[in-house]
Amino acid sequence: MPKNRQRNDPSRQSMRVIGCCSLLLVSVAFPACAHENHDQPAAVSDIVTYRSTALPERILLGWKSHPDTSQAVTWRTDTSVQYAYAQIAVAEAGPMFVPKAKAAQLNATTTFVPTDLGDRHYHAVNFTGLKPNTLYVYRVGDRTNWSAWIHFRTASAEPEPFSFVYYGDAQNDLKSHWSRVFREAFSDAPRAKFMLHAGDLVNRGNSDAEWGEWCAAGGWVNGMIPTVAIPGNHEYDRNRVDPTPEEIKQDDRHLCRRWRARFELPENGPPDLLETCYYLDFQGVRFVGLNSMEDYQPQAKWLDTVLTDNPNRWTIVTHHHPIYSGSKGRNNPEMRAAWQPIYDKHKVDLVLTGHDHTYGRTGQMKHEANLQTGERTRSEQGGTVYVVSVSGPKQYGRNDFKFARRAEDTQLYQIISIDGDKLRYQARTATGTLYDGFTLQKSPGKPNQLINQIPETPENLRPEK
Ligand SMILES: [Fe+2]
Ligand SMILES: [Fe+2]
Repeated sequence: MPKNRQRNDPSRQSMRVIGCCSLLLVSVAFPACAHENHDQPAAVSDIVTYRSTALPERILLGWKSHPDTSQAVTWRTDTSVQYAYAQIAVAEAGPMFVPKAKAAQLNATTTFVPTDLGDRHYHAVNFTGLKPNTLYVYRVGDRTNWSAWIHFRTASAEPEPFSFVYYGDAQNDLKSHWSRVFREAFSDAPRAKFMLHAGDLVNRGNSDAEWGEWCAAGGWVNGMIPTVAIPGNHEYDRNRVDPTPEEIKQDDRHLCRRWRARFELPENGPPDLLETCYYLDFQGVRFVGLNSMEDYQPQAKWLDTVLTDNPNRWTIVTHHHPIYSGSKGRNNPEMRAAWQPIYDKHKVDLVLTGHDHTYGRTGQMKHEANLQTGERTRSEQGGTVYVVSVSGPKQYGRNDFKFARRAEDTQLYQIISIDGDKLRYQARTATGTLYDGFTLQKSPGKPNQLINQIPETPENLRPEK
């Protein structure tokens, strides 16, 4: 069963009702050592580190509609900024674009978001009517305080080759441990078209300091390379950092308040799951994000419709909880039963997940009732390749599932490249070392051919006891 069946959208509702002055005072009272304890609120120093001003910060690109003709951006300030703006022009080699960008100024939508470290304003602009495969330059601000001018390139209108980066759970120690993974991934794939996060981006969805660390880890890259994300269980959080005993007992968690203000994502999913369940077409690939924290069956029905009418050559799905789990006691049979037959029916090529804090990559799999053993990791009849990965430092031990390649105690990022009939997958460790690889080859009228390209290095596994 989904761990959370809250069907309302507290990310919007709670913004209006929670005052935060008292929350700020409560946070000050916590000990400075709390930062290392993932269950405790932020430390005092975080209040200083992540205090906002009128200057735009945490600038993040995303998409609300077609990537070849649109680009969305969000950023945040303190609440003194009531009106915010973005300016945009086609990039030029010199600064002569500035008058054109000023003439093309857009008003931002501003959302009030109370956080445990104080009230914030999140601003959003959706640039539309853009030209495909074109380098643009933009900045955001309040007409006094502006960001730097930042570039982005729109997608091609055609299915041209591209790469993207996929991360499993970042979640913990984002500044000290996860940031090096991000830097290594960016160094390896600086022209990646977007960064895909399969949930659990932070440990506590309503911790402003943790989101501050997550944004700082990506830094200016987040303003230049779009982020595509779906929520994990850790983006479902209590609305208050100081829950009452009754609230603790009820364990009443909701999608974190900032999710919909923070990420700009297509609103083409089920009406009660906007920006947590959606699809996005990018240069010949249909990407589908599902919300594994919510009911499976309505999403299965929606997914069937979305994949029935799919003109793209490739289909990649992402959700947080894995179809084939890599850690003990984390089997998801109901989700597997609801979603995997839809993947089989529509020949989904690849499913990218997280949650298990370990690495596992299957062969080509099809749904079999009650299968969580992995005996058949290679099928001559085709099937979907499933990945569970982790980019952050929290690591769990493995179960007995027979993956084609697996790892423990290893932080990884994945670079996935699509070029016509070929999909190339590489998993690399935090040190940039190739750890796993395969190519999927499409041929007309035939199942995908899986060509394993696993390096001959031993698997990173804990010793057998
Ligand atoms: Fe998780
Ligand atoms: Fe996690």
